[in-house]
Amino acid sequence: MQGKKILVTGGTGYIGSHTIIELITQGYSVVCVDNCINSDKSSLMSIHQITGVSVPFFQVDLCDSYETKKIFTAHPDISGVIHFAALKAVGESVEKPILYFRNNLDALINVLDLSIQNGVKAFIFSSSCTVYGEVLKSPVDENTPLQAAESPYGRTKQIGEQIIEDSVKNEMTQSILLRYFNPAGAHPSGLLGESPINQPQNLVPVITETAIGKRDTMTVFGNDYETKDGSCIRDYIHVCDLARAHILALSYIFNGRQKVPVEIFNVGIGNGLTVLEVIKAFEKESGLRLKYKVGPRRPGDVVAIYSDHAKASKELGWYPQYNVNDIMRTAWAWEQKRQQR
Ligand code: NAD
Ligand code: WQD
Repeated sequence: MQGKKILVTGGTGYIGSHTIIELITQGYSVVCVDNCINSDKSSLMSIHQITGVSVPFFQVDLCDSYETKKIFTAHPDISGVIHFAALKAVGESVEKPILYFRNNLDALINVLDLSIQNGVKAFIFSSSCTVYGEVLKSPVDENTPLQAAESPYGRTKQIGEQIIEDSVKNEMTQSILLRYFNPAGAHPSGLLGESPINQPQNLVPVITETAIGKRDTMTVFGNDYETKDGSCIRDYIHVCDLARAHILALSYIFNGRQKVPVEIFNVGIGNGLTVLEVIKAFEKESGLRLKYKVGPRRPGDVVAIYSDHAKASKELGWYPQYNVNDIMRTAWAWEQKRQQR
């Protein structure tokens, strides 16, 4: 795919920045847009350090259709769009649903509309396992019926998927909806990882922030679930494995292998781990004892969800290369690096 130009929205964020590295490594040319509401431009410096490439960057709020259009005018040869840009804090979305609907849906509609108008061939969308809602059993495959979303954030992903399905039906743009499970970990170089502006609430950064002393202790949300050790089960996927799935999704469309307007793929490693197992993996990799206590269940938590990713393996040729130990090792290396800074 030498030279094809890809617009990455939300590209200074966690998954976007790791995906840009993978795109550059695979010979794509990249344009990045982000309004830096939950990231900063330092990730572009890390991308430069790792790849030697300075990525053209637009600091634009994608809800602003006028400013967004200028990106497509400046780069009329964009062949693919990977749309990461969104707000993602589940709890905040419950408190501020309008903010989430406005930001996540307005931005999607603007980028999608301009992609279709400008003849973009491939539109890849960051969806989430959250669209499955309270599942009755795992693993979940792409045919598992969606339940009501647990939060306005989750609803923006369900509605986002529907908007795309309706909009590309009769267009030359084809789309892939990637339903991520629990992304975690950092780039193996130690130069890039998760550094959100908002305080992270996800398990892995909470663990590393506790270990480094940014938090006094952490809470395991419940140990009375019907699981092997009583804590919830999730499917943690290394961010670099996830990044690779986007490149394979682009190739799938560019090589003419996609026969329908929209395809959906689960991207998780398919291995359910409990919260306590993740903590043990951290302790093994870091050699530290983590300060944690067991607290009550977190409202809205699903007992267990993990993926069946057979479709992504069969169609895209995607197989995870990292495990939970790699996730914890790279996440911990990144936390220590941030501390030095
Ligand atoms: P992130 O917050 O690190 O990255 C998202 C980026 O989008 C941020 O840099 C933010 O500044 C930018 N952004 C938000 N609204 C914008 C707007 N209106 N205009 C321009 N830029 C805007 O989050 P992430 O973890 O990298 O997530 C990327 C995508 O993947 C999101 O769509 C998220 O919903 C989805 N997702 C994330 C997870 C996860 O656990 N990290 C899981 C499933 C799906
Ligand atoms: C994982 C497990 C917690 C923090 C969220 C979104 C989902 C998707 C992925 C975007 C759970 C437990 C956590 C802590 C804990 N994101 N935990 N103590 O809730 O599976 O999914 O991120 O689309 O939509 O909901 O991820 O990392 O918050 O939690 O015990 O301090 O860790 O209860 O069992 P979750 P998480």
